[in-house]
Amino acid sequence: MTPPARHVLVLGGTTEARLLAEALAADPAYEVTTSLAGRVAAPRLPSGRVRIGGFGGAEGLAAWLRAESVHALVDATHPFAAAVSANAAAAAHATGVPLLVLCRSGWEPVPGDRWHHAASLDEAAALLPDLGTRVLLTTGRNDLSPFAGQDRLPRLDALWFLARSVDPPPVPLPANVEVLLDRGPFTVERERALLRERRIDVLVTKDSGGAATAPKLTAARDLGLPVLLVRRPALPAGVARTSHLSGALAWLAERT
Ligand SMILES: NC(=O)c1ccc[n+]([C@@H]2O[C@H](COP(=O)([O-])OP(=O)(O)OC[C@H]3O[C@@H](n4cnc5c(N)ncnc54)[C@H](OP(=O)(O)O)[C@@H]3O)[C@@H](O)[C@H]2O)c1
Repeated sequence: MTPPARHVLVLGGTTEARLLAEALAADPAYEVTTSLAGRVAAPRLPSGRVRIGGFGGAEGLAAWLRAESVHALVDATHPFAAAVSANAAAAAHATGVPLLVLCRSGWEPVPGDRWHHAASLDEAAALLPDLGTRVLLTTGRNDLSPFAGQDRLPRLDALWFLARSVDPPPVPLPANVEVLLDRGPFTVERERALLRERRIDVLVTKDSGGAATAPKLTAARDLGLPVLLVRRPALPAGVARTSHLSGALAWLAERT
């Protein structure tokens, strides 16, 4: 007799999560639900079931895991989505549901890169005025406020920002800003043209990793521009992790 399909909850919002959901939806051994935060107006929907919106903290997530008889939880959220990852670890601990973090590796510099690192967005904002005056800011719509200088960091008000995001960002914004609504993947040629046309002299990005948004780093290297990279927050301790889809599928096969 065929065993019943095992319910896997994928915490999503990333390419990795979509690819995992696609693989699981194609396998009758699994029933997959992907959870999205609901931040993007028109998200790319994954295969399988989809639920949208917060759970109400770690307790809400734990209740959902129990109510929906979830066999395994995969946290495939963005490396900078630290709150939901902490909730996932706490909910897995509370319910005994096995948890895997599927998180792409960070970017590695190659010869020719002029990278500067910041431990946080606030630190990046403080360092930025020493690196350039015309900034391509790709930290995402919810991470622009640290660059709104005003009384806190008045030197930022002398800079010009091209802020690229998928959806329009909320205020506060930098004093001199143009918002460019666009969604990756991008090509190196297009990124190089953007940097040249807008006379960008410094790029600010989070160390998100992955191929879809890496061409901006190649383009900055080609043009000899400095890049200010914000380091990732730490993942919850003691949680199994993989950076590859194959690793996630092998982990699930062992546990479900
Ligand atoms: N941060 C980034 O740079 C970034 C970039 C690209 C994509 N994303 C994606 O966008 C989403 C939100 O990112 P964030 O940095 O705002 O997250 P966050 O700060 O870690 O999470 C804040 C709250 O949003 C809810 N939430 C987040 N991800 C969720 C999910 N996949 N399903 C259901 N609820 C979720 C949770 O609410 P409750 O406590 O109510 O459950 C969580 O406590 C994530 O799913 C992430 O994968 C983030």
